[in-house]
Amino acid sequence: MTTPRPLIAGNWKMNGLAASLDEAIEVAGSVRPVDARVAICPPAVLIHRMSEALKGTSVLVGGQDAHWDDRGAFTGDVSAEMLADAGAQMVILGHSERRAAYRETDEIVARKVEAAVRAGLEPIVCVGETLAEREAGDTLDIVTRQVRGSLPPVLAGKPFSVAYEPVWAIGSGLTPTIDQIEEVHRAIRDTLEKMFGDHGRTIPILYGGSVKPSNAAEILHASEVGGALVGGASLKAQDFLAIIRAL
Ligand code: 13P
Repeated sequence: MTTPRPLIAGNWKMNGLAASLDEAIEVAGSVRPVDARVAICPPAVLIHRMSEALKGTSVLVGGQDAHWDDRGAFTGDVSAEMLADAGAQMVILGHSERRAAYRETDEIVARKVEAAVRAGLEPIVCVGETLAEREAGDTLDIVTRQVRGSLPPVLAGKPFSVAYEPVWAIGSGLTPTIDQIEEVHRAIRDTLEKMFGDHGRTIPILYGGSVKPSNAAEILHASEVGGALVGGASLKAQDFLAIIRAL
């Protein structure tokens, strides 16, 4: 299997109105698609408009969550099939903010991943330890368990990526050392190889958590880092472009 290009994905979280589409259009107008795949994951209500606005460009559009069922009596929820129907090509699943705020377990995340695959979406599956778990020396155990529990067998041979996002690094301005990032990415790679064989060697492992223009080059060039999942710094086109150019 050939190694896919790195993926730089912006997670807008619950930020962005129609006027924010200009930021995405600016990114798409300046990005050089040869170096990386670039995706923006806006709030669900902007997916359709963003995918129309970015049609014909190399920038992909993704959701930030999806339900595990395709349709039904789940007030307020959005299914993977609906995201795909609105124009999304990818979806972030198992983000720590959802694991924490909505008690999403590995089992729930795995069911959501199955739904994403059914809908033809490429999942970005997030894992990461809390500060307490790191301080207790449990990081590798926790992350390995999350990878094993959140990635269902149906992913074999399918395009997807894993995002390592230490919870304590998200939105905090704190980042792990490069050694710490490489240690966790190596453990994720070992687990992916055990689970998926040769395919496991090529699955991009993204880093996420306070990635910004000033630290992007160092992080993106670390061993086993196959891209980035960027929160706050993806909201401004010039910051996001600076991160993409740091590759
Ligand atoms: P920040 O880049 O704002 O720390 O967010 C990271 C993140 O959670 C991306 O999914």
